[in-house]
Amino acid sequence: MKFLTLEDFDTKGKTIFLRVDMNCPMDPKTMEISGTRRIEEAVKTIKDLSKAKVVVASHQGRVGNKDYTGMENHAKVIEKLLDRKIKYVEDVIGHKAQNEIKNLQDGDILLLDNLRLCAEENYEFSPEDAVKTIMVRRLVKFFDLCVLDSFPSAHRSHPSIVGFSHVLPACAGRIVEEEVRKLDEILTVAKAPHVVVLGGSKVVDRIEAVKTLIKNGRADHVLLTGLIANVFMRAQGRIKYPLGMKREEEIVANAHSLIGEYPDVFSTPVDVAIDKDGSRVEIDVRDVGRGDQIFDVGQKTVDHYLKTISSAGTLFISGPPGFFENENFSTGTKSLLTGIANSFATTIVSGGHLTTALKKYGLSEKINHISSAGGALVLYISGIKLPMITSLEEAAKRYKSK
Ligand code: 3PG
Repeated sequence: MKFLTLEDFDTKGKTIFLRVDMNCPMDPKTMEISGTRRIEEAVKTIKDLSKAKVVVASHQGRVGNKDYTGMENHAKVIEKLLDRKIKYVEDVIGHKAQNEIKNLQDGDILLLDNLRLCAEENYEFSPEDAVKTIMVRRLVKFFDLCVLDSFPSAHRSHPSIVGFSHVLPACAGRIVEEEVRKLDEILTVAKAPHVVVLGGSKVVDRIEAVKTLIKNGRADHVLLTGLIANVFMRAQGRIKYPLGMKREEEIVANAHSLIGEYPDVFSTPVDVAIDKDGSRVEIDVRDVGRGDQIFDVGQKTVDHYLKTISSAGTLFISGPPGFFENENFSTGTKSLLTGIANSFATTIVSGGHLTTALKKYGLSEKINHISSAGGALVLYISGIKLPMITSLEEAAKRYKSK
């Protein structure tokens, strides 16, 4: 690895900016955190910094989305996992946060509020411009070391990711270290055919991601599920009604041109499961009517996809194939994950929801690598250099040349 790790620093007595990714799934009804894996992972690094003054920073959700919340519940989960009190401040860069940081004692842990409350954290910057943001200018003076451990957001060049590390000594935390080591190991021996099972809801990101995977030889077959499958089925003219998404026509046009460019790569469902008065009903895709809510792939699609899965050399799944939290719509996710877990391929599973699903079905042990990252992982697998990794490597060069 070309970057530094916690082993390279004596962190005792240091004030540390620790960027983690505790962006967790939220129960849409209760707004409680419904999957805590990312917090559990972050806690491993926090524990290794027990003699320092640690300022933990993360985002949660995207501005305007339902899961965009403060971090008070995250603080409670950290406390439970560590079995001790931590400090939490409802502020990111203001006086309240600055005073809390100033008053930290060795061994203290302070969690800042959602970084995206600070407008700058919603934009991408070059490292040179990121250091000019008010976030970095206000806070950098308090820190001796920047520890970057938010692998799921390693593809974002936000100030917290490329700013502090551009001017402070910086190293990777345990998650980034482990992800990069494992992925590099797997990717050097990855065999074709590469099969990608793609679902989930961040459709725009996923279309870009799948393009990159195909272009870089990491996706010979793409089996689509979830909302992205609906978009492609609209592009194919098999779903005739609008899906009710923002910028839908543009996204569908994008999918249409991708199918044109790679006609043999994509598979879309032949049947889907919809909700009829609280029950699961499987219908042919051509029979999807206006307003029908698709919550899962149908059995014929599962059978068809499992054939491709069984002949894969490398399998990568990102985004749940269905609304598996509801028993009525869990068949697709359960069957496809079981097929993947029992295949002879090298397997990589991505994202918090699928991690939860693997646990639920007792399949975690059969997977080669489970990553809590989504978009960042796809880009890493494609061979794209992620801003966080570049920033860590630059920091290592600076450190070694001193
Ligand atoms: C993720 O869940 O993929 C990361 O936390 C990044 O979130 P974002 O896509 O909202 O930047």
